[in-house]
Amino acid sequence: MKEPPSFVQRFHGNIGVQDRIRLFDQTPATIWLTGLSGAGKSTLAFALEEQLIALGHACYVLDGDNIRHGLASDLGFARHDRRENIRRVAHVAQLMNDAGLIVITALISPIREDRAMAREIIGPDKFVETYVCAPLAICANRDPKGLYAKARSGEISSFTGVSAPYEAPIDPDLYVDTGTLPREESVAQIFDYLREKCLGTSTDRSAHTAGA
Ligand code: ADX
Repeated sequence: MKEPPSFVQRFHGNIGVQDRIRLFDQTPATIWLTGLSGAGKSTLAFALEEQLIALGHACYVLDGDNIRHGLASDLGFARHDRRENIRRVAHVAQLMNDAGLIVITALISPIREDRAMAREIIGPDKFVETYVCAPLAICANRDPKGLYAKARSGEISSFTGVSAPYEAPIDPDLYVDTGTLPREESVAQIFDYLREKCLGTSTDRSAHTAGA
């Protein structure tokens, strides 16, 4: 990682991570969703966000398509552009975690080495690699944006799963099988992980779903 010149030094205020944990009643983390286009990352991310917000938790989704409208609008899909995209998003996630938020990222992030970089930037204790897994044939069949068809006809190049690689996580922290599970089940899997590891005592999903 590139370091700034030595005269650029870090400044720390008096507010620390414990202050923010108390403030938000949660331990910040980044749920890093990785998977093929059409596997359901964005759908899961926003459904999870909705559930967390309904329970009063501070969280935010960093969605690949949305990020590419601003922070990464200068980047394409070549190997080094994707790496830069992931580097930027990882730094934003790290800052948001530092601010006390739970972050959910939804990026294809196809290369293991790049996800390892994200883990390093965010911090291994906060980074939750979550493999959103649906077989390529199912994703291509869903093809919600018509991109697989375009990739196959050659209209789009370097398309993940067709003309660019996807390196599946070897030992992810979470594995969500969106090829077979209904959406609610997939969201519940991630939510349950967060409830166990990150969410404070005020969270009670059963009370919430019962309308309490
Ligand atoms: S990543 O590889 O850099 O992590 P990211 O998640 O930001 O990708 O963006 C993926 C989105 O861009 C896809 O959901 C799809 O809509 C769109 N897209 C356009 N061209 C490509 C391509 N060649 N490969 C993958 N996704 C593409």
